Amino acid sequence: MALTPTRPIKVWDLPLRLTKWSFVGLVAAMWYTAENSLWYWHTRLGAVLLALLIFRIIWGFIGTRTALFSQFVRSPRAAFNHLRGKDTGFTIGHNPLGAFAVLALIGVMLAQVTMGLFAGDPYDGATGPLNSLVSVMTADTLTDWHADFLWVVLGMAALHIIAVSIYSFVKLDDLVGPMITGKREEPESVEGIEAVPWGRAAIAIAVSAGFALWVWLGAPPLT
Ligand code: HEM
Repeated sequence: MALTPTRPIKVWDLPLRLTKWSFVGLVAAMWYTAENSLWYWHTRLGAVLLALLIFRIIWGFIGTRTALFSQFVRSPRAAFNHLRGKDTGFTIGHNPLGAFAVLALIGVMLAQVTMGLFAGDPYDGATGPLNSLVSVMTADTLTDWHADFLWVVLGMAALHIIAVSIYSFVKLDDLVGPMITGKREEPESVEGIEAVPWGRAAIAIAVSAGFALWVWLGAPPLT
């Protein structure tokens, strides 16, 4: 059988890759800083993580083709068919199964960050920037959930790493390399993504950084 000729094409844009690897580093850093009671860094890195999460969500609406939620979020049936090796029309980007992992990972990180914003005790140690907006009892409950929810965040990350490893070592489909270089070998018939719309990226960065700064300042009234 003749092999289909391939060439490297762009499949992941730079903002998406930078955000993705920052998530990896920041979740590890949030764990480390919490375990070692480094609250000064825990809260500041948490604000950076909040900005990146907001950026990733905005980028899911205005980014390049493979970053768009409308392009990669598919039905559970499509994910199941993909798992059974059926053709689901998927070419590049997140496969229908990976799409659920992306949504779940963004969801659990967002939930953890939100609880962290209200966590802590003003009479005893560090507090998140929105702690004063809720009662001490509510903050106490959220702090307990925040501490326990770490295991959900780490569990989701572990599942994701296991799935990616299975693709790499069992199915011989390297998902990590393209997430680093942005490129992947594909047949001539498959088209790569468009150039990064840097104007839209600048707007997304300004909105997400502005929002995180506003939250960091305790969400003061805007008027
Ligand atoms: C993925 C993100 C995060 C992870 C994995 C994480 C992890 C943790 C863990 C495990 C604890 C409990 C430590 C313990 O009591 O043993 C904790 C506490 C806390 N976190 Fe986070 N956190 C995250 C995001 C945030 C964010 C965004 C903020 C605020 C900006 C924040 C603020 C706090 C505060 C104030 C406490 C309580 C400190 C205390 O008990 O004095 N966290 N975090």
